[in-house]
Amino acid sequence: METTVISKATKRTGPVLFADYKRGDGIKKALQMRRDNVLLEVRESKLKGRGGAGFPTATKWMLTAAATCPEKFLVCNADEGEPGTFKDRVLLLEYPELVFDGMVIGGYTIGAKQGIVYLRGEYEYMLKSLEDYLEQMRKDNLLGKNILGVEGFDYDITIRLGAGAYVCGEETALIESLEGHRGESRNRPPYPVNTGYNGRPTSVNNVETLASIPHIMMRGGEWFATMGTDKSTGSKLFSISGDCSKPGVYELRWGATIRDILKLVDAQDTKAVQVGGASGFCIPESQFDRQLSYEDTSTGGSIMIFNKKRNMLSVLKNFMEFFVEESCGQCTPCRIGNVKLLEGVEMIEKNEFTFEYIKNLKELGKSMQIASKCGLGQSSPNSFISILENFNDEIFNTNRNGGSK
Ligand SMILES: Cc1cc2nc3c(=O)[nH]c(=O)nc-3n(C[C@H](O)[C@H](O)[C@H](O)COP(=O)(O)O)c2cc1C
Ligand code: SF4
Repeated sequence: METTVISKATKRTGPVLFADYKRGDGIKKALQMRRDNVLLEVRESKLKGRGGAGFPTATKWMLTAAATCPEKFLVCNADEGEPGTFKDRVLLLEYPELVFDGMVIGGYTIGAKQGIVYLRGEYEYMLKSLEDYLEQMRKDNLLGKNILGVEGFDYDITIRLGAGAYVCGEETALIESLEGHRGESRNRPPYPVNTGYNGRPTSVNNVETLASIPHIMMRGGEWFATMGTDKSTGSKLFSISGDCSKPGVYELRWGATIRDILKLVDAQDTKAVQVGGASGFCIPESQFDRQLSYEDTSTGGSIMIFNKKRNMLSVLKNFMEFFVEESCGQCTPCRIGNVKLLEGVEMIEKNEFTFEYIKNLKELGKSMQIASKCGLGQSSPNSFISILENFNDEIFNTNRNGGSK
């Protein structure tokens, strides 16, 4: 298993994102190609969006490119609000050349003149260095008018600070926020590729997705597609935290197992691994041979490790408090549902529950997954359902009296 961990002391080369790359090279290569050939290369790589949903990047770009409107936008989603995720921060701080070159190549491909980075509000501390970086790109004609001598390719990037809400990472809420409105998700369709920022066709891409593009340009889509699994090509950054000796951001080919990860970060006595952040799934020891891939345990990259000393009900309570706080309140299943799920956790904590009530709450969670308006409410019951199901014995027998029947 070839991996790379980001830690200034022990940084090694990695298969894709942590491999060598010279600023501007991917742009030069792309600008020598026709736009549709760049698109073909990305399609051949089978790159899927790294923001969590795993939508094929080439399809998103193709739809935006095909939209008939002279003004288009490319937005880099750097909101990074999922609990336990910090890989985009590392890319922005240590590999800005990949992110920004990816944005230029994306802008060229879809026919945009403007790229916008939506930067998590808490990352304001890196704003100045990123702005300086963009200024240097302008001086080197990697941004601006007729980029690298390509007549008519004018493109620039601006950075906008996020509004400090988790839901603003959801692409339509992000666009609302960019437009100066309250960050609330929109009904879809229409999709941003047709009606996005300021009503214009917009491709919203995750930081890591964009950072993969320059390497795909340099080494080809076919090379990228040889790594990983059939449906999960290339490599992935994982933000690994919790009970282990070597937390950090690691680059692994898709297809590694949870057990591989635990070995890599020297985790001992592990009881549970939360894959995909608070909105993801909690995996018990009996399933540690499961693969990290879109086919199995799909994730935007957050891996939280819990050892045997942890109380899984407390872990769940923490997640549910987060969702109650972050629900934007627009739709009833999420606004009321998360409060009800949290109340259920508190009832278990106080040993004041009935099993019938908990069963009903799981059903409520399943309804929220279907009926909520956006991904927040659709995914917030995942940890409630998976923790209660996978840690049933601990939660209902070991730590408690079993509740009233
Ligand atoms: C509540 C919520 C928060 C999200 N936060 C982020 C985020 O911080 N960064 C991100 O790239 N995608 C986030 N997403 C996913 C985006 O809506 C969108 O799918 C993604 O930015 C598309 O980029 P990709 O195709 O490159 O993955 C979030 C989705 C939801 C429902
Ligand atoms: S699911 Fe939650 S966050 Fe999304 S629109 Fe409904 S209330 Fe708002």
